[in-house]
Amino acid sequence: MSFDVQKIREDFPILHRQVNGYPLVYLDNAATSQKPQAVIDCIVDYYSLYNANIHRGVHTLSQEATDAYEKARRKIQQHFHIALPEEVIFTSGTTHGINLVANGFASILKKGDEVLVSALEHHSNIVPWQMLCERTGASLKVIPMNESGELRMDHYDTLLTPKTQLVFVNHVSNALGTINPIEEIIEKAHAMNAAVLIDGAQSCAHIRPDLQKLNVDFYVTSAHKMCGPTGVGMLYGKKEWLEKLPPYQGGGEMIKEVTFEKTTYAELPHKFEAGTPNICGGIAFGAAIDYLNEIGFETIANYEDSLLIYATQRLLEIEGLKIYGTSKNKTAVISFNLEGIHPYDVGTIVDKLGIAVRTGHHCAQPIMDFYNIPGTVRASFSFYNTKEEVDRLTEAVQRAKSMLS
Ligand code: ALA
Repeated sequence: MSFDVQKIREDFPILHRQVNGYPLVYLDNAATSQKPQAVIDCIVDYYSLYNANIHRGVHTLSQEATDAYEKARRKIQQHFHIALPEEVIFTSGTTHGINLVANGFASILKKGDEVLVSALEHHSNIVPWQMLCERTGASLKVIPMNESGELRMDHYDTLLTPKTQLVFVNHVSNALGTINPIEEIIEKAHAMNAAVLIDGAQSCAHIRPDLQKLNVDFYVTSAHKMCGPTGVGMLYGKKEWLEKLPPYQGGGEMIKEVTFEKTTYAELPHKFEAGTPNICGGIAFGAAIDYLNEIGFETIANYEDSLLIYATQRLLEIEGLKIYGTSKNKTAVISFNLEGIHPYDVGTIVDKLGIAVRTGHHCAQPIMDFYNIPGTVRASFSFYNTKEEVDRLTEAVQRAKSMLS
């Protein structure tokens, strides 16, 4: 399928606005993606036509909302090639999914056990495991990274031992864009009888993972990185794991029977879905998945790769600009600094020129410590960005450099 980026841009109303007197160039897609009209319409339709609570009422609106929500669950199941719909748990996002699993493992781990995390993780995939280790007496070990921003797989082999119970790695690094070799990570962990959780927050807008083929134990992601709304995400867990883990929160919907003496829990997936969920968000997550699949993930990846190559080449024309994260296997994320200039100052100047980038440590302080820097400027691209926008970024960074040096 040929890719007409101008036609795609028509689907995103926000891309037509001006910021500080310039047409917006939105390059903060790793923080959150923009939303196409199809997703916005889905949200408006829900609140205009069939807003109701789900799984609770016999009335028509409740039935319609329940059907739409469960249809979205099945879309997610199909998209990620998950065996059973009850293995799809709606969450409020990636952080919620990770905390749910970490909380569950508190009753499984014991002193002397080890858990492995990678040096490339977002704080969301570090802090919950530190809290888990504090509660259980297990210890946290770190798979180190190299200068290119890749995991040291030779160290992984040594760190994996019969004491390892769990391994947590992101599919794609939010700060550098590195795509981690998760197939190898999962296979080696399983050979040691360790379970694996993959944080897919940064991958799912660019890659369509086949979770049955990966044979992963847990995979988490957020809808808002993939053209869906904020406040909703997915936890995939193998049925045998989800049955083994205790519920994360108590409340309505997750029970079978309640008396003051004892409560029994509902079947999956409801066991993990206490309280009224983000109904509209779940339905719109399904609409976002439909939208992305209409374009096709191969088309998205090919186009974004060409943007990455072009943007890397253009930015490197600027003397004194250093890119962090140079793995050959990366998504369209460029983290960089200008020699002697604070990233925040660059971000502020390019914003004045209508360009949105993220600056700072990107919730990945260990990566910044590795490079001994306070942070970076991060330009993260999506399939609706253009080469002309890359040119605008390059000119703006040049301008920031001449103003700040
Ligand atoms: N985790 C998001 C980012 O990388 C917010 O910007």
